[in-house]
Amino acid sequence: MADSTTLNHIARILANVSPSMPADAALRRYFYEHKYLAPQLRRAVSKGVFTYFRWKNWVNPKAALQTKADHALDLDARFKQNPNSTKAEALAVRAVPEWLAKEMELTPEYLRQIQREPALWLRARPGKAHKLADSLGNCKFTDHAPDAINYVGEKDLFRTAQFHEGQFEIQDLSSQLVGIAAAPSAGQTWWDACAGDGGKTLHLADQMQNKGLIWVTDRSEKRLQTFKKRSTRAKLYNHRSALWDGTAGLPTKAKFDGILVDAPCSGVGTWQRNPHARWTTTMDDVRELAAVQLELLHRVAGSLKPGGRLIYAVCTLTRSETTDVANAFSAAHPELVPALLQVLGSQLSAQFLWPQDFNANGMFIASWTKTG
Ligand SMILES: C[S@@+](CC[C@H](N)C(=O)[O-])C[C@H]1O[C@@H](n2cnc3c(N)ncnc32)[C@H](O)[C@@H]1O
Repeated sequence: MADSTTLNHIARILANVSPSMPADAALRRYFYEHKYLAPQLRRAVSKGVFTYFRWKNWVNPKAALQTKADHALDLDARFKQNPNSTKAEALAVRAVPEWLAKEMELTPEYLRQIQREPALWLRARPGKAHKLADSLGNCKFTDHAPDAINYVGEKDLFRTAQFHEGQFEIQDLSSQLVGIAAAPSAGQTWWDACAGDGGKTLHLADQMQNKGLIWVTDRSEKRLQTFKKRSTRAKLYNHRSALWDGTAGLPTKAKFDGILVDAPCSGVGTWQRNPHARWTTTMDDVRELAAVQLELLHRVAGSLKPGGRLIYAVCTLTRSETTDVANAFSAAHPELVPALLQVLGSQLSAQFLWPQDFNANGMFIASWTKTG
């Protein structure tokens, strides 16, 4: 049960959330405007806001926001005690929008997983996970990725000395598996075509031991600026960045050993972490983004060296954006052959990472090699 102060803050934030003001942005703004809130209260309020969007369709739509938030927290507590008490049939119609069933199989395991609170994953610098875990405390490991740590403590990690010294990045386990699948070598030349804030770029740079060159492009100048700050903190300098929106000419005539297209997508795979997006993402978004993904893959394909590898990753699980895009791309590019993913002992060239299997974001990864 949340106390009335916590519920009051949650309700005030919920009142500001809209399709143009996502829950995470509303939370950030509220905390910025209410700097005096203690860390413990902030955590409870964040949890309450996200819990509300997981259980939104169970609560009385006509009730006051405080009452709705209280009911959602109550449902969440009951679910935690006994996840099987909520029927999978009910989850399939209430926990996700109706259109999703046409785009993916809604298994009970998947539906129950996205009703849980998400895990917090860190990526330690190569080979330093155990040392970092000792100094942070409250860390768990996984067999899936050598540098991944599941942090279960309550520290604000952004305020730790270890973070400011560049000893780790906050990076979801599934995103780390994309970097591992890319498997770049020291001295190679790579292109991270949708680099964003550079979470995966930094992982590529670490695997390349800060040697060779990564072209870092994105359509957003702001995100590239954030990447520069992150790379300075991590002391990784084997990169060159440029604005590129996927439509104009290529940013360089260079040919690459590897290209990563971590494409813009509907983000269905992040709905455990970001449940508000379940109620703002539409089938039109899925269709539009699938077309953008295919276009980006077409555009970068000619920049691979013979023997070079192309990795396509999206944090979504819809058929239209994942297998349909990969199949259409393969059909149009006979010069690129599907290549085994170098991750999780995979015998596949394309693979879904399901949230329930990894306690992490849902993701799809596919890989090709250029012949010749
Ligand atoms: C999934 S995010 C990338 C996340 C990033 N790779 C990381 O690991 O932090 C997709 C990125 O694609 C960029 N983007 C969207 N449309 C694009 C386009 N047409 N061309 C290039 N980048 C685009 C977005 O700005 C966004 O940063």
